[in-house]
Amino acid sequence: MPASHAMSASATVPIEVHLTDDDLHETLREEVAAGLTADPKWLSPKWFYDDRGSELFDEITRLPEYYPTEAERRILARHAAEIAAATGAEVLVELGSGTSDKTRLLLDALVATGVHTFVPFDVSEGILRYAAAVLDDRYPDLGVVGVVGDFERHLDELPTPGCRTVALLGSTIGNLDPEQRACFLATMAEVLEPGEALLLGTDLIKDRPRLLAAYDDPGGVTAAFNRNVLAVLNRELGADFELASFDHEARWNEPQHRIEMWLRSSEAQTVQVADLGLSVDFARGEGVRTELSTKFDRDLVTADVCAAGFRAAGWWTDDPGDFAVSLWRR
Ligand code: SAH
Ligand code: TRP
Repeated sequence: MPASHAMSASATVPIEVHLTDDDLHETLREEVAAGLTADPKWLSPKWFYDDRGSELFDEITRLPEYYPTEAERRILARHAAEIAAATGAEVLVELGSGTSDKTRLLLDALVATGVHTFVPFDVSEGILRYAAAVLDDRYPDLGVVGVVGDFERHLDELPTPGCRTVALLGSTIGNLDPEQRACFLATMAEVLEPGEALLLGTDLIKDRPRLLAAYDDPGGVTAAFNRNVLAVLNRELGADFELASFDHEARWNEPQHRIEMWLRSSEAQTVQVADLGLSVDFARGEGVRTELSTKFDRDLVTADVCAAGFRAAGWWTDDPGDFAVSLWRR
């Protein structure tokens, strides 16, 4: 992704904005006020993906330790035709689309089986405009309509120009806690018509050293990505976090089968969040949880998705069984 991606967006791709800068700012204020006064402290992962964060995430996906992107790419490369046929879709909606890079493998196959519209949907407007423009150029016969929105709030406003498959790749569903996940799936079940489908990418449970390495690379890209959320709060809310005084930590939570990302204060300190009139004390070694990444097996995914009212329509994994792409029909 070029650093200037926000500037290179084509003006010809229609973009629906359900989330204005003001909405986003208001949500940011509410969530940060709630998270930084909770015990333990937490921050919502939505704020990772400003332009700098989207670039750092793109770098993460190319790290040798970060296996999920390549594993998912291999599954899509190998099974795209079969997946496309199983969806029966005319429209592909991609939630949390980011660069939509792997999605091209699917789109190649989906265009051949009759998909006429692609709807990338992301909370981050810069990356969305960039991806929508790139895809619009690459697929002249495909209608591309970008949506700037929050998939926890704006799913009922998805365009419906035909039978849809809604994809959530990159194991982004694993970044929701169990309650948020159940809520997301219930909303999806409500929004989709019978015959429409959900396509999920989920990272699978594996040995702990590989899991931890994927979220704590020796070059420090993941650490920089994690700390970037503090830079977002400094810029957007007038906070005065000193990034260097927070250490990146990736931790395995066994009962919840998830990796948790924390930022741990290396000293006792007080941080001011000027726009919220909030003063936040950190004890030495105290952490703020910034992200969780749940790992699944087939039974866990099936239980969650079927509880919401979907039925299984396909399950594809890579050879080592690191990652799964699965299809669920309403
Ligand atoms: N799908 C891509 C990118 C994953 S990174 C891949 O598989 O590599 C997660 C993406 O989801 C980011 O682009 C981020 O901006 C977006 N995102 C995170 N939370 C979101 C939310 N609540 N609503 C919409 N998009 C969200
Ligand atoms: N969906 C990605 C995952 O769970 C998000 C992610 C990858 C991430 N690396 C990260 C989030 C590091 C925070 C920090 O794997």
